[in-house]
Amino acid sequence: MTDAGRRAALEAIAAEVRDCTRCRLHEGRTRAVPGEGNPDTEVVFVGEGPGYNEDRLGRPFVGRAGDLLVRLLGSIGWRREDVFITNVVKCRPPDNRDPEPDEIAACAPYLRRQLEVLDPALVVTLGRHSMGRFMPGARISQSHGTVRPADPAIGAAGALVYALYHPAAALRSAEVERTSFADMAGIPGALLDARGRREAARATAITPTAAAPVAAPAVSTAPPAAPLAALAEPPPDTVPDDQLTLF
Ligand code: URA
Ligand code: SF4
Repeated sequence: MTDAGRRAALEAIAAEVRDCTRCRLHEGRTRAVPGEGNPDTEVVFVGEGPGYNEDRLGRPFVGRAGDLLVRLLGSIGWRREDVFITNVVKCRPPDNRDPEPDEIAACAPYLRRQLEVLDPALVVTLGRHSMGRFMPGARISQSHGTVRPADPAIGAAGALVYALYHPAAALRSAEVERTSFADMAGIPGALLDARGRREAARATAITPTAAAPVAAPAVSTAPPAAPLAALAEPPPDTVPDDQLTLF
């Protein structure tokens, strides 16, 4: 799919999400939060669900957890507009409670379709709820900073999944914050592994005959720098810390 095709497909999904009434979370939302980012990215970050600021602005990770996510990305030289950022549920649960299993199930087709369009090499889960979708049965205390093949039923067939603590957890604990920066430092390597796996899978799928050798793409651990014009400066925070986020 071309970049323009991916952009249009993602916008079509976002338009459906903004009008969606498939689960009770639509009742309390101000705005649904479909997700945003570079349609040509190799890396998708998946949080749990919108918090107060996200619900007001219709954009993911724009409160204090979002500021920390931007600092985490910056620590490896990436910007939020280089990647795609979304959530397991697209509407804010009341009082930032955990999403219920039936709400997650109702919303799952949107995340699956986004992942099918983006076809990322690497999915980075933010927090244990998002991790639970991609690495069933994993425990965040053991699995943070590690990769696993993604459960193909979730949509990112052929991707590796890398688990991080939720940035809101890092805001509450200096130790989790330190660990999060250390885990973040492992992401470029995980992306290289993920690319390697995909190249190998493609090679087995196409080689057997005497086809001309295909030049390997130049390896860079940075994702393509193609900022989305639609991404404005993050808005200022307007909400006290304790109202902010889920994890
Ligand atoms: N927490 C999340 O899980 N997602 C957001 O978009 C913001 C905060
Ligand atoms: Fe629809 Fe998902 Fe919002 Fe529920 S959370 S109303 S399924 S977009």
